[in-house]
Amino acid sequence: MVDGSKTRSATACAMVIFGAAGDLTRRKLIPALYNLAKEQLLPRDFAIVGVSRTDFTSETFREKITEDIHKYADGAVDDELWSWLVRRLYHVKGEFDDPATYDKLKEALDKADTEHGTKGNYFYYLATAPNFFSVVVDHLGQTKLACETDSSWRRVIVEKPFGRDLDSARALTHELQKTLKEKQIYRIDHYLGKETVQNILAFRFANGIFEPIWNRRYIDHVQITVAESVGVEGRGGYYEEAGALRDMVPNHIMQLVSLVGMEPPVSFEANAVRDEQAKVLNAIQPFNPEDVLARTVRGQYGEGAMGSEQCPAYRAEPRVAATSKTETYVAMKLNIDNWRWAGVPFYLRTGKRMKERHTYISIQFRRAPKVLFRDTPVETLAPNILTLQIQPEEGISLQFAAKTPGSVMKLGTVDMEFNYADYFGKTPSTGYERLLHDCMAGDATLFQRADMVEAGWAIMTPVLDVWKALPVRNFPNYASGSWGPKEADDLLTRDERRWRNLES
Ligand code: BG6
Repeated sequence: MVDGSKTRSATACAMVIFGAAGDLTRRKLIPALYNLAKEQLLPRDFAIVGVSRTDFTSETFREKITEDIHKYADGAVDDELWSWLVRRLYHVKGEFDDPATYDKLKEALDKADTEHGTKGNYFYYLATAPNFFSVVVDHLGQTKLACETDSSWRRVIVEKPFGRDLDSARALTHELQKTLKEKQIYRIDHYLGKETVQNILAFRFANGIFEPIWNRRYIDHVQITVAESVGVEGRGGYYEEAGALRDMVPNHIMQLVSLVGMEPPVSFEANAVRDEQAKVLNAIQPFNPEDVLARTVRGQYGEGAMGSEQCPAYRAEPRVAATSKTETYVAMKLNIDNWRWAGVPFYLRTGKRMKERHTYISIQFRRAPKVLFRDTPVETLAPNILTLQIQPEEGISLQFAAKTPGSVMKLGTVDMEFNYADYFGKTPSTGYERLLHDCMAGDATLFQRADMVEAGWAIMTPVLDVWKALPVRNFPNYASGSWGPKEADDLLTRDERRWRNLES
């Protein structure tokens, strides 16, 4: 997983995108394919077939995507490379529940096999609304388009949300498995495509010095913050149904928890890594209703200032009810019941319209004993904090105490910092490149297995149930441009701790 380049390469194949006229295709998937082509990581025998209800021909689809790539590519577009890619792009118009769509798709794929040598290897990307996931897979089954042979493979990438609670996630897996084997299902979580998220494993397991102190003897607590400055960005309809918890926690944030908390896997083989991730998720102490009240906080943003811009309240966003009770912020305290983490709380929080966009993990170590400084002016010893910054800055920093110059003993807090871009430069990335490439190469390490998804939902479903039974009365409870509701600060103050707010 850290560097599989010696063992993995993408084989000849065609990618089929269901929902090809949507936002994800133009903003992420096509730019990611272009970046892969630039890095020479796409197979030479390759084609893309977009399927959507929009009235595109292959020709007009190419024109539209060409317009879009100039908007969404990171940097200038190389015309020669783009024309290589766009020649391999086709469109099939049709409804996802109409058998005729799949007949047309079959023709397009036969053509790709003949003209682009894609050899009957196909992967399908379900970039559709979730209610179509099993509809599409059913049809792929009926038309044998999902059937593998000795000489060709077929895989399906399923976007989030994978279910909306434990029962629906299990039901979806059951539906998909009527047609597909588990090894053909690639449940995507774009957080695992982020370099700095993958780097958590490299940092922990490629260095000798951190692992021995990565446990309850040395760590006081862990904080995970996924703060977004954007609001719901016109996705009010989706968000009213989802809310911040479903949108971010069982998927993205649980990935971060599992990578920070897991035991070392025996190898980077997909199941070895995922077994350890699943184990740590399964060790999270379940919430009973009292715990939900004591250890979780929900919030909704009101109006406020984001820098110089005045922003509307969530309830004033398009397609949001004026009395909406949907949360746009969540904070919670998790306990992990295993030998490594017993007694070390993991505090998580995520929200929209927070003061700044920052995703980071802070590992706070136990304080040193003050014995030696008893007779000095030093009043308190600050804890060491290791911060893994995921975005927008990507890097790692370690906070420690240093003597401030002068003839009396005084301490200051200083930072040792590593910044990704300074060392390695910046390579354009949407976060999807690695994941698409891995799927083409048949490496599922960075994709979620059914048990991992279910473990995430198993932890969160009791929270959703209690929240549903006890609707909030105090929304909105934080201003746009703040660090979230006061209750979230209280959650840590009760434990004599406080959130670490990174500000640029
Ligand atoms: C998506 C959520 O999965 O992740 C969005 O649906 C959220 O609401 C986004 O904004 C955050 O992703 P990133 O990569 O910007 O942190």
